Amino acid sequence: MYLDLLKERRSIRNYSGREVEGEDIQQIIQAALLSPTSRGSRPWRFVLVDDPDLLEDLAAAKEEGSEFVSGAEMAIVVAADPRASDVWIEDCAIAAANMHNIAAGMDLGSCWVQIRRRKCKDGKSSEKYVRELLGLSEQLRVACFLAVGYPEDNKESRRLEDLSYEKVHYNYYGQDIPE
Ligand SMILES: Cc1cc2nc3c(=O)[nH]c(=O)nc-3n(C[C@H](O)[C@H](O)[C@H](O)COP(=O)(O)O)c2cc1C
Repeated sequence: MYLDLLKERRSIRNYSGREVEGEDIQQIIQAALLSPTSRGSRPWRFVLVDDPDLLEDLAAAKEEGSEFVSGAEMAIVVAADPRASDVWIEDCAIAAANMHNIAAGMDLGSCWVQIRRRKCKDGKSSEKYVRELLGLSEQLRVACFLAVGYPEDNKESRRLEDLSYEKVHYNYYGQDIPE
């Protein structure tokens, strides 16, 4: 059941070093390309990175929170052409979430690394850093990347009883859902 998959999905930042199967990568990419986009504009671009030197460089894309990608098998950079859609951020987020979820269903670990609105240690914009590193044109915006690899350790699944049900309202904001 899809809900079971969503309970099991966690952000994985430690990887075993086992190679990711080509078929699995293909399915992750297909999940991204199957994602809905506003007006069907499909403004996204995806860059698959498995070159260890580039992964090492991607690890420095942010002040913090990107370092672990040097130990991942792969990173999938999610970018978009804002001229194709005024809501490219949402389009990128849905594609990234779909990849994150399908990866979990294949027992692969992944973690979202935020790039848009983030900075490198030297103050340079993370987007500019990634754009220059991977040769993306200046017109493309970089939303995030996913670090992907087989998990080194098991993280606990979420429990339905622990969810933040208080954030959900009924008819009027502030009104609880009836029992
Ligand atoms: C929009 C977004 C940005 C995130 N950025 C980062 C990041 O830059 N680095 C990181 O290590 N984790 C990042 N995460 C992962 C979150 O830290 C993680 O989802 C959260 O702590 C909940 O843990 P869980 O995914 O295991 O349920 C991001 C997640 C989202 C949705």
